[in-house]
Amino acid sequence: MDFKTAEAKINDLRNLLNQYGYEYYVLDQPSVPDAEYDRLIRELIELEEQFPELQSSDSPTQRVGAAVLEMFEKVEHRTPMLSLGNAFNDQDLRDFDRRIRQVVGDDFSYVAELKIDGLAVSLKYENGAFIQGATRGDGTIGEDITSNLRTINSIPLRLKENVTLEVRGEAYMPKRSFEALNKGREERGEELFANPRNAAAGSLRQLDPKIAASRKLDVFLYGIGDIGTTGIRSHSEGLDYLDKIGLKTNKERKKCANIDEVIEYINGWVEERPNLAYDIDGIVVKVDSYEQQEQLGTTAKSPRWAIAFKFPAEEVVTKLLNIELSVGRTGVVTPTAILEPVRVAGTTVQRASLHNEDLIREKDIKIGDKVVVKKAGDIIPEVVNVLAEQRTGDETEFLMPTHCPECSSELVRLEGEVALRCINPKCPAQIREGLIHFVSRNAMNIDGLGEKVISQLFAEKLIEDVADIYKLTREQLLALERMGEKSVTNLLEAIEASKGNSLERLLFGLGIRLVGSKAAKTLAQEFSSMDRLAEVSKEELTAINEIGDKMADSIVTFFEQEEVKELLNELKEAGLNMEYLGAKPVSAEESDSFFAGKTIVLTGKLEVLTRNEAKEKIEALGGNISGSVSKKTDLLIAGEDAGSKLSKAQELGIETWNEERLLEELNK
Ligand code: IVH
Repeated sequence: MDFKTAEAKINDLRNLLNQYGYEYYVLDQPSVPDAEYDRLIRELIELEEQFPELQSSDSPTQRVGAAVLEMFEKVEHRTPMLSLGNAFNDQDLRDFDRRIRQVVGDDFSYVAELKIDGLAVSLKYENGAFIQGATRGDGTIGEDITSNLRTINSIPLRLKENVTLEVRGEAYMPKRSFEALNKGREERGEELFANPRNAAAGSLRQLDPKIAASRKLDVFLYGIGDIGTTGIRSHSEGLDYLDKIGLKTNKERKKCANIDEVIEYINGWVEERPNLAYDIDGIVVKVDSYEQQEQLGTTAKSPRWAIAFKFPAEEVVTKLLNIELSVGRTGVVTPTAILEPVRVAGTTVQRASLHNEDLIREKDIKIGDKVVVKKAGDIIPEVVNVLAEQRTGDETEFLMPTHCPECSSELVRLEGEVALRCINPKCPAQIREGLIHFVSRNAMNIDGLGEKVISQLFAEKLIEDVADIYKLTREQLLALERMGEKSVTNLLEAIEASKGNSLERLLFGLGIRLVGSKAAKTLAQEFSSMDRLAEVSKEELTAINEIGDKMADSIVTFFEQEEVKELLNELKEAGLNMEYLGAKPVSAEESDSFFAGKTIVLTGKLEVLTRNEAKEKIEALGGNISGSVSKKTDLLIAGEDAGSKLSKAQELGIETWNEERLLEELNK
């Protein structure tokens, strides 16, 4: 075959396969037998092999096969990926409805749709080609998981129109794929995934795209990041548009004229939910018109024009087999219910915290009782109540111990507290939990040094205090259970990297009583270095807004201790950074910048800066960023395609700048 003929043939095959793939994966209405699809794809593969110069990354043959990655690159979202406020009952929904009507009046409609229980993703298309896919991350910065998303057959590599846009949606694992996956894992003796959402998230976080490809994921798109010049005026038009260009949306959506219709829709799904092929965890309710959405604006976290109705938590009955005790980092002794394993809201539950003795008395919990269990917020298992009428007489009363289950010293109940505490500072349980806290995510964030590894290291006496973590050797780590060369290398690197953490992480990690991660950040910002903090007075501390008497006392006492001084010296010698590395917030009075003390709104698309960069720069100069335009707004910064915020600002006579003017001021 000559080049020209091959080119035409390849083109035809790709178009045909794209069409069949679309019918099969997006519409779920195949028009040809699978064997025909397979035959055509084989033909295309052969032709592309013969004419490698005709290969193209958006060919249907190119879904899998990308290289294994070292790590995921970061992706900044031009418009942040927000989350949603929650509603748990009709009243919450009616309150939401009232807030909307106060802003936009009575003339509007809602779209209600299923809240898919998966993982939020952003997909970028350029001139019709899929070029990048990312996770939500912290909302501003996500991870580039393009090669994994390319393996999802319902994500077209090429759209039906050559448009450039960013769409958002939920990647998920259908129930059947989940069951098949876990069945296979069970047969191979591998750890099971707790639920389809974890399985989907785990699959998309694999560095080798072949794994994601084997996992049978799917996607529903539910929004457009930036409508650009499409002329779309509402969410429902937006979804229809996504359908039109070949993207997969969820068909169960419904336009509702008022909140009563929304509630009716929700009630229907409470019943129907188990019959779906995928998990949903609620219903999302959105104001349809984009203009009205803009009018309502967003808070820092979520849009005011949408809300997520969360289904009531599933409750099940099981038997309480025993009550175990554990000692936490601060010496608090917590009773935990050991339950006969039972499935609830997608996972098997066998433990639930009972918090303290008072709660056990209040709920009249006895060992051997039949109990009702649910997951609070669908995550944390909780004993709701006891079925006292089903008692057999064999149940036994639980008594809190008088002595620490780990070190046997006498437990005390501090004034005003419900908890019993072990106050022995040498209690091994407390030390171990303190070490676990030190390496945890919000503290020093040492990847690979989880609860299990710390417990092993502690049991083997390889670490006794946090400074010992920095003395660990390759040989010591290799000797641990289930630690190979690669994990040890990674772990040592993570330990080394943690030395460079900014001061607030170390401060929080040290576990000073009453100092949470937020207070640690404030302290680090205010006092800049550990040396300075170690000598600060109670008065200087309480002069700071967020720091009260008790916390100030606790901080001063902490730094006075000889052992603390020694520990800090050791950490310093090990090379840990003891300075605050972040930006120092400037108060309005201090800043002589134009932005100081002003309320500023950003709208439209910026070219040079991202929204978030602009926000950070303005805030660093003492300005306050707000999500919506009102009489209190001092300045509007309008990028390309600014919509109703710009017109509102003009109506109110608010000063308006373009990005160029902003950059000029920032560079002063
Ligand atoms: S709209 C501005 N619609 O729920 C927020 N979200 O907290 C736009 N989700 O992780 C979200 N199904 O990924 C929207 N039909 C749906 C959804 C949905 C699932 C997820 C979303 C996010 C979370 C919202």
